[in-house]
Amino acid sequence: MKPINVGLLGIGTVGGGTYTVLTRNEAEITRRAGRPIRISVVADKNLELARQATQGAARLVDDAFSVVGDPEVDIVVELIGGVGVARDLVLKAIEHGKHVVTANKALLAKHGNEIFAAASAKGVMIGFEAAVAGGVPIIKALREGLTANRIQWIAGIINGTTNFILSEMRDKGLPFAEVLKEAQRLGYAEADPTFDVEGVDAAHKLTIMAAIAFGIPMQFDRAHIEGISQLEAEDIKYAEQLGYRIKLLGITKRKENGIELRVHPTLIPERRLIANVEGAMNAVLVQGDAVGATLYYGKGAGAEPTASAVIADLVDVARMQTADPEHRVPHLAFQPDALQDTPI
Ligand code: HSE
Repeated sequence: MKPINVGLLGIGTVGGGTYTVLTRNEAEITRRAGRPIRISVVADKNLELARQATQGAARLVDDAFSVVGDPEVDIVVELIGGVGVARDLVLKAIEHGKHVVTANKALLAKHGNEIFAAASAKGVMIGFEAAVAGGVPIIKALREGLTANRIQWIAGIINGTTNFILSEMRDKGLPFAEVLKEAQRLGYAEADPTFDVEGVDAAHKLTIMAAIAFGIPMQFDRAHIEGISQLEAEDIKYAEQLGYRIKLLGITKRKENGIELRVHPTLIPERRLIANVEGAMNAVLVQGDAVGATLYYGKGAGAEPTASAVIADLVDVARMQTADPEHRVPHLAFQPDALQDTPI
């Protein structure tokens, strides 16, 4: 079977996780995709890091632009982050007819309208499951599972770093700065952690979810954004004495006069499920008119949870590309004969 070739831009935390999971779960992923998914080239400024992460199995380059124009590459995975070079690379990849998978929520929240328009014109796919809530498949839920619904509102804990900070401050009484350092060490925080603590990262993700849920363009600049940097240990303690937890929520709602987008610390009664989401976990509540309330929960940051979402998009692209119609409509995500091998 001819593999589908991936050009990976950036092999930091998520890139490394993507390589590890693709290697470890190769058999399952190949079966589900209908053909092998191979990282054929990696672009990173740090070639030594890239060599360690890929154990010599991929070609390494330091010029990401050479990858987006490489005729051997079928899918470009953008894990560089930021909205400058990443935007240029993604638009160039689209221009070259490549499918793109990205975890870059800032890029989509700010330039998604332009990027999706370019991709539609060129007939290529943009996968971005990893851009919102890490390993929680919320994009697929909104776009596919809930597609029959008129979405009324979404409320979620969609930044792992701030949830980790709030949890550790409450449970262990640790100071804000110390917990932030630990979140950085664990690979949860953004390159610029003010994006996490000031609510900007959550607003990026909320903007993307609102676009899917309400069929609106990305409107990040119109979101109300408030982070947790002004919160003190006392606030958390007093909230607890009154029976509440403080969570940084992203909320988007359909109102009579438009769509509301807001991120801010919120007091939640402690009996609510979402109040008990701890650590770097994410949880997203979605209210649809037909289905009612639904809840999606899981790891919202970190190498392998985010890689799980990146690879889900790679498999989607592979399925769409394969000539075998059985894989295009995966009833069980397995070929029927593969099931016979599995003892039950
Ligand atoms: N910094 C982000 C977070 C990473 O803490 O949730 C995942 O998007």
